[in-house]
Amino acid sequence: MLERIRNTYPIVMHGVSMSIASTAPLDFDYLRALKSLASRFQPAWISDHLCWTGVHGVNLHDLLPVPYTLEALDHVVDRIRRVQDFLGRRLAIENVSSYVTFAESEMDEWTFIRELAERADCWLLLDVNNVFGSSFNHSFDQASFIGAVPADRVVQLHLAGHSEAGTHKIDTHDQPICEEVWSLYHEVCPRFGSISTMIERDDNFPPFDELMAELDRARAVAACARIPAQGAAA
Ligand SMILES: [Fe+2]
Repeated sequence: MLERIRNTYPIVMHGVSMSIASTAPLDFDYLRALKSLASRFQPAWISDHLCWTGVHGVNLHDLLPVPYTLEALDHVVDRIRRVQDFLGRRLAIENVSSYVTFAESEMDEWTFIRELAERADCWLLLDVNNVFGSSFNHSFDQASFIGAVPADRVVQLHLAGHSEAGTHKIDTHDQPICEEVWSLYHEVCPRFGSISTMIERDDNFPPFDELMAELDRARAVAACARIPAQGAAA
């Protein structure tokens, strides 16, 4: 199926298993398989998340946040550089939704991400819903986050729906995109130029027409910002 899709469309590879921020050793079996797949399908880029998913051989299947310390920054920069050297290409690193913060943090999430991108010389993937959700969960200013992200390193935007849990917004990808995220997308489009947008929908699927309507709306918002929506896909 992938071969047939690749014959017609550009593709990107988006992972949840690299665990780039973990203190566990890098999984070179996984990275070898990833490199092999990438050489076969030639994706426009490979993306994964700024997170850890486990230690000591246990995979928690959650995208867990990191403390924003200089020590963690050194650690993640080193691992991204090693992975990029091994794969022979830059990674795109995505901001996650988070539900806890660390008392040890020495800087904001957006400062950490900006430093990370410069020092690791990687691309970034900006998930608009994750900025919205985390800004609510941790009471920070969305504009500070968006304004600090180096625009020339962002290769893709993500849009998604989330679930309300009262005190928190949970990044479940099983709801329509909310109006606040549409507004934020409208605000960020001019800053990041003509780049790809992807709508993430993983569960509780509506009729296909409703998914396509969200895609049309994303294209219309991008066009309204006078930015051609290249490669938008549901
Ligand atoms: Fe995402």
